[in-house]
Amino acid sequence: MRRAKISIIGAGNVGATTAHWCAAAELGDIVLVDIPQTEDMPKGKALDLMQSSPVMGFDSNIVGTTSYEETAGSDVVVITAGIPRKPGMSRDDLLGTNAKIMTSVCEEIKKTSENAVVIVVSNPLDAMVQQAKHVTGFPAERVLGQAGVLDTARYRTFLAMELGVSVEDVSALLMGGHGDTMVPIPSCTSVGGIPVLQLIDEARLEEIVDRTRKGGAEIVGLLKTGSAYYAPAAATTQMVEAIVRDKKRLIPCAAYCDKEYGVGGYYVGVPVVLGSGGVEKIVELKLTDGEQAAFQKSIDAVKELVEVMATLV
Ligand code: NAI
Ligand code: 2OP
Repeated sequence: MRRAKISIIGAGNVGATTAHWCAAAELGDIVLVDIPQTEDMPKGKALDLMQSSPVMGFDSNIVGTTSYEETAGSDVVVITAGIPRKPGMSRDDLLGTNAKIMTSVCEEIKKTSENAVVIVVSNPLDAMVQQAKHVTGFPAERVLGQAGVLDTARYRTFLAMELGVSVEDVSALLMGGHGDTMVPIPSCTSVGGIPVLQLIDEARLEEIVDRTRKGGAEIVGLLKTGSAYYAPAAATTQMVEAIVRDKKRLIPCAAYCDKEYGVGGYYVGVPVVLGSGGVEKIVELKLTDGEQAAFQKSIDAVKELVEVMATLV
C-alpha cells in the first residue's frame, strides 16, 4: 500500500512538533520545508527525527528541505509558516507579515500538490485560511484551518482540572473564530455523558470559557519567546490522521461556510466530518438565541479581519 505523503511548511515549533507526532503515529512519509535563509535547519530536524525512529519504533521517512520539489504530489500539506506571537501581541498583529508568507507558500503548493488537502495553522488563522483558499484556488473542502480542535482541547483540559475527572470523559464543542470571540456550546458539553451544567454552575463555566479564550495568550505569557506548540501540533496531527486514514472524525475545524449558518463565504470554526476528501460535511446545529448571537459576533470579527487583510496583500 502506498504511504501517504505529508508536507509540513514551516519547520519551526509547531511544524517540527507536528512532524514528530505524525511520524510517531506512522501517518505517512513527511517532508519538512522552511525558507532558504534557515539553511540546513529543516534537514537537521528531519534527520534528528529519523534517528529517533529505531528507538521509538516507527517507520516513516522524514526529509527536510528548503525547496518545494520534494513536496510534489503531497496528499496533505500543513502550513505553519509565519511568525508567532510574542507577549503583548494579539494573533491579529501577525496579519500583514503572515498574509504575505501565506501567499508565497500557497503559490508553490498550487504548482506542486494540486490534489492535496491543505490544513492551515498560521495565524491569524481565520484570515490565513481564507487567503490559502484564494491563492490555491482549491475547492473549499480541500482547504481548512486548525483551531477548533486546539481550543476545544484547552476547554476540555480546564473542565477536567476543575471537576477532578479524566480528560477522556470530557466531550465539548467550541465554534466561531480562533480568537477572543470563540463560542462555547454548553448544550454540546458533557462529562461522562452528563450535561456539564449539572456538574458546574453557569458562572464558573463562564470563567473556564474565558480562560479558554485566553488560552493561547496564557502560554505566550509563560513562554515569553513564542507561542504554544505541543497542543497545537497534537490538534493538527489529529486532523492529518482523520484525512490520511479517512476516519470521518466529527471535529471542529475552520471550514468555508457560505449558506451554512448564513455565514456568506468566510472561514469559521464549525463541526465538520473530516475524511480523505477533506471537509466532507459541515454539521449545522440548532443554536440557542444566545449561542447564535455570540456566533454572529464571531463571524463579524472574522469578516473584519479578512477585510483588513485585503488592504495588506
Ligand atoms: P516558529 O517561529 O517556531 O516557526 C515558524 C517557521 O516558519 C520558522 O521556522 C520560519 O522560518 C518559517 N517560515 C517563515 N516564512 C516561511 C515561508 N515563506 N516558507 C516556509 N517557512 C517559512 O513559529 P510556530 O510557533 O511554529 O508558529 C507558527 C505559526 O502558527 C504562527 O503564525 C503561530 O501564530 C501559528 N499558530 C497557530 C495555532 C492555531 O491554533 N491555529 C496554534 C499555534 C501557533
Ligand atoms: C494559540 O492559540 C498562538 O493561536 C495560538 O496558542
